[in-house]
Amino acid sequence: MPPEQLLDPEAHASDTAHLVWRLMREHDPVHWQPATELPPFWSLTRYEDIRAVYRDPRTFSSAQGVLLRPERLGDDPGGGLTLALTDPPRHKQMRSLVADRFSTRAVRGLRDYLRATARTLIERAIERGSCDFAHDIAGRLSLHAICRIMGIPEADHENLHVWTNEAFHAHASLITHPRLMEYFAQFLSATADRPADDLVGDLVHGTVDGEPLTEEELLLNWENIMGATENGRLALIGGMLAFLEHPDQWRRLGEDRSLLPGAVEEVLRWTSSATHSMRTATRPHTIRGRRIEAGERVVLWLPSANRDEAVFREPYRFDISRNPNHHIALASGEHFCIGSTLARSEMSILFSELLDMVRTIEPDGPVTRLRSIAVNGPEALPVRVTAR
Ligand code: HEM
Repeated sequence: MPPEQLLDPEAHASDTAHLVWRLMREHDPVHWQPATELPPFWSLTRYEDIRAVYRDPRTFSSAQGVLLRPERLGDDPGGGLTLALTDPPRHKQMRSLVADRFSTRAVRGLRDYLRATARTLIERAIERGSCDFAHDIAGRLSLHAICRIMGIPEADHENLHVWTNEAFHAHASLITHPRLMEYFAQFLSATADRPADDLVGDLVHGTVDGEPLTEEELLLNWENIMGATENGRLALIGGMLAFLEHPDQWRRLGEDRSLLPGAVEEVLRWTSSATHSMRTATRPHTIRGRRIEAGERVVLWLPSANRDEAVFREPYRFDISRNPNHHIALASGEHFCIGSTLARSEMSILFSELLDMVRTIEPDGPVTRLRSIAVNGPEALPVRVTAR
């Protein structure tokens, strides 16, 4: 099981990646990966090392990109410009532009909308008797939620669902999708002329270092936030699949709803839908005796951290009452996922509505898994449902 296997998207569509990470944690936790089509990089697989890198943004910069990309594609266009791809002190200013929209208070204000949306989607699935949980329920719920936060009119949500799906399926960046870009450019220019009480308004009318964001920065930040919701969608689908594969845990949750917050954390740990984050060293640094030079890339494998046997008891067991459960599926430190409260709410609302409305939910055909080294989870999850 050589570490190079991690570069093969196929390895992340099966248990192979976990087998490789397990060996790396034990024998080679700070591994040097020579250049391939991808640039060379250090691979970190232990929880403690990954958490330490996240918490040291001065040594480990995000501004050169946070995801591996083939060298021939050049630098990430968002480098130094988007929320995820900036360092302190600029990062703090960027984050404060939009932080209120994702606060506990803001998400609480969205709960009725999320619940009503989840109920409508589940009702439709019940009427038909079956659905693709990925596309028809999880994808729609997470898309409606982010569109609502952005201030996108309800009538346009379905188009955005179609276009973002097309981009996700093609593993393409959202800004390469012509219809999406056209839509968003128009939406931005309309927002410039109105006082908007929504996330897009905050971006358009906000300033960083006293300057408004350029049109390029606006588009890239919009893409950053839209694209990040794919993680939320995958966590919802991966969570449902985990319950289908562990029906005893689904039954336990149905019998005792006080387990729901813990179940959400275990789903986040178990699915770890963000597969890696990348950083670039700004100065030399030594981890476990291996010297990382300035300019070298460091890749943090999150699903590996979340199965680290030094931190989690029986890490390969899906246990909704796991306690403690200090997973880092949502990262740690300055770049801690800004959508964390939203993602947790979507999950707890969707699972509790399903438990209320559905008597049985069962697999209804083959599950297809994403082939990607950046995000992981089921791409299609056909299920049969019956009403309670
Ligand atoms: C509701 C959906 C979500 C939204 C809107 C969202 C949004 C974001 C944004 C904008 C950032 C950048 C924050 C910053 O740089 O300050 C971020 C970071 C991150 N998010 Fe999320 N997220 C969502 C769900 C998730 C989920 C479910 C996961 C994984 C289970 C996840 C994992 C991460 C990670 C690992 C980072 C750190 C990336 C890095 O800096 O390398 N996110 N998220």
